Amino acid sequence: PSGMLDDKRGRRLHDLRISVTDRCNFRCVYCMPKEVFGKDYPYLPHDALLSFEEIVRLARVFVAHGVEKIRLTGGEPLLRKNIETLVAQLAELHTPGGQPLDLTLTTNATLLARKARALADAGLKRVTVSLDALDDTIFRRMNDVDFPVSDVLRGIDAAAEAGLGPIKINMVVKKGANDSQIEAMAGHFRRSGHILRFIEYMDVGASNGWKMDEVVASAEVLRRIDARWPLETLQPHYTGEVAQRWRYRDGAGEIGVISSVTQAFCSTCTRARLSTEGQLYLCLFAQQGYDLRALLRGGASDAELAAAVAHVWQGRDDNYSERRSADTPRAGKIEMSYIGG
Ligand code: GTP
Ligand code: 5AD
Ligand code: SF4
Ligand code: SF4
Repeated sequence: PSGMLDDKRGRRLHDLRISVTDRCNFRCVYCMPKEVFGKDYPYLPHDALLSFEEIVRLARVFVAHGVEKIRLTGGEPLLRKNIETLVAQLAELHTPGGQPLDLTLTTNATLLARKARALADAGLKRVTVSLDALDDTIFRRMNDVDFPVSDVLRGIDAAAEAGLGPIKINMVVKKGANDSQIEAMAGHFRRSGHILRFIEYMDVGASNGWKMDEVVASAEVLRRIDARWPLETLQPHYTGEVAQRWRYRDGAGEIGVISSVTQAFCSTCTRARLSTEGQLYLCLFAQQGYDLRALLRGGASDAELAAAVAHVWQGRDDNYSERRSADTPRAGKIEMSYIGG
């Protein structure tokens, strides 16, 4: 049983985001705050992780169901040993129509200078880099492990040289923490060929202590940039594109805003998420996943796996961001570092 799948709100399964590790060498304040992710944090033991073989087998099932885009995430995906081997295996998959997949990865770029070439050779198409500030002091405070911004910039250059562009740069904007960097980031990436995207700080997980007044609305980000370098809108590449696209009127390139707090995009959400240990989640804000690993390790056939995925997607009704309010429950939500951005 394979073929295209629609959920209860008529949304078609199109993207699969695969988390390959729940570990990260950063402690970004909005994602893995040190107070929670300390020395004794119980990360998953090795045998809980899906093996590459298991990941590829599941990926093949999702592709048969219409998935055309696969993104590797984490934690920090480049911390997973031999990640380029997994990339090479996923790069061999094709859509039922015979097209290669859009295969990409979200990284903090700390290991990118070392790995960009091998990843490109393995068949990775492009990368997205998380970068929250250009000012070294602010950046070190955001990653909270005193990591210098110069190494990240070197990683971005290495990725561009390896042909992994156009590179998207994701900046989560948190008021009072890095919102002073909006113009500096825009100025730096204008004319670089990279696409900078500003992300509204979200209440994912249960440990970042999110408050609405720490969110900088995308409208405000756009107003500030437009005041300096006038902007105009661009059409989306496809319906359901997460980022709203804008271009500089003077031809210096493109930026994007991701406004999941002030302008929820649940109505076109086509993403499924596979956690590091093989739980299938259909919403970033889910409290519970569906245990595909148990099926895999219990000896299920490909047809049984496909039927399970179809069943879960067809029963999907999530629209958390459309319903978010001040009293939305905080506890029990899965962490971003576990489920993958
Ligand atoms: P591209 O095709 O490269 O543009 O991928 P994308 O637009 O899916 O971007 P990416 O995976 O880099 O996502 C950027 C950020 O948007 C994530 O890190 C999240 O913060 C946010 N985001 C992505 N998907 C969702 C989603 O389904 N729901 C919500 N609420 N936020 C999302
Ligand atoms: N709000 C918005 N985006 C987040 N990310 C992680 N935590 C949050 C959050 N609380 C995203 C960032 C980062 C990616 C790995 O996950 O975009 O680049
Ligand atoms: Fe690590 Fe990315 Fe989370 Fe930062 S946002 S702690 S780099 S997984
Ligand atoms: Fe999709 Fe959930 Fe995000 Fe809405 S909140 S866009 S349903 S992942």
